[in-house]
Amino acid sequence: MKKLTIIGNWKMNKNSQETKEFLDVFNTEYLNNKEKISDSIVFGIAAPFTNLYLFNKNDKLKSVAQNFSNFSSGAYTGEISASMLKDLNVSMVVLGHSERRQYFYETDETVNLKTHQALKEGITPIVCVGETLEEYEAGKTKEVILKQLKGSLKDVNDFSKIIIAYEPVWAIGTGKTATAEIAQDVCEFIRKNTAANVTIQYGGSVSPANIQELMNQKDIDGALVGGASLKPESFIKLLTLNK
Ligand code: PGA
Repeated sequence: MKKLTIIGNWKMNKNSQETKEFLDVFNTEYLNNKEKISDSIVFGIAAPFTNLYLFNKNDKLKSVAQNFSNFSSGAYTGEISASMLKDLNVSMVVLGHSERRQYFYETDETVNLKTHQALKEGITPIVCVGETLEEYEAGKTKEVILKQLKGSLKDVNDFSKIIIAYEPVWAIGTGKTATAEIAQDVCEFIRKNTAANVTIQYGGSVSPANIQELMNQKDIDGALVGGASLKPESFIKLLTLNK
């Protein structure tokens, strides 16, 4: 089986108690389902900064951040640096999620600065791209994706060190998944415009019911999952590919 990278994106959900409860159930369920989870699946949770320390205790489940600063340290009130994340064994960071682009004014330029900071610090960036419903309906998907790739990944030379997450904005949290054909078509386009060895995730209403079909697509190497990653039983089902 090809290598798959499946990451839960918890967004602004769960306090420390709720995180501990998730981990308790997850750890038991993981042992119960271990033989159904392929060794070629890399998995983790992008939890809020304040709970990342709780993931240190599970060596299989990677701790992932949802954002970080493009600066290394200094007078940047409210920011979190790469070295602070590395203290907590964080090995990946989600960058330029559409919610950050929409509500927190992130642009391809800031995502590009953060991508280079992550590469410099040895943290794997998960760079998100995706078109809005309006752009999708206007047939502009590939034009938008190409612009985001060019801007967000400017001057990136080694694509083997990054992950690109294709997340159509119209499919996030809406229950409307892109069909496997649409997702494959865009992911193939992303690979052609970046490099053969880049890891490409699909995200947007991924669930236990549709994960297997999506992961069977040639150019989809994993998933970035919001809602279906919040319950341990459902997250485990994503890892077993619903077996
Ligand atoms: P969703 O979120 O799975 O709830 O659609 C995906 C994401 O925002 O990464």
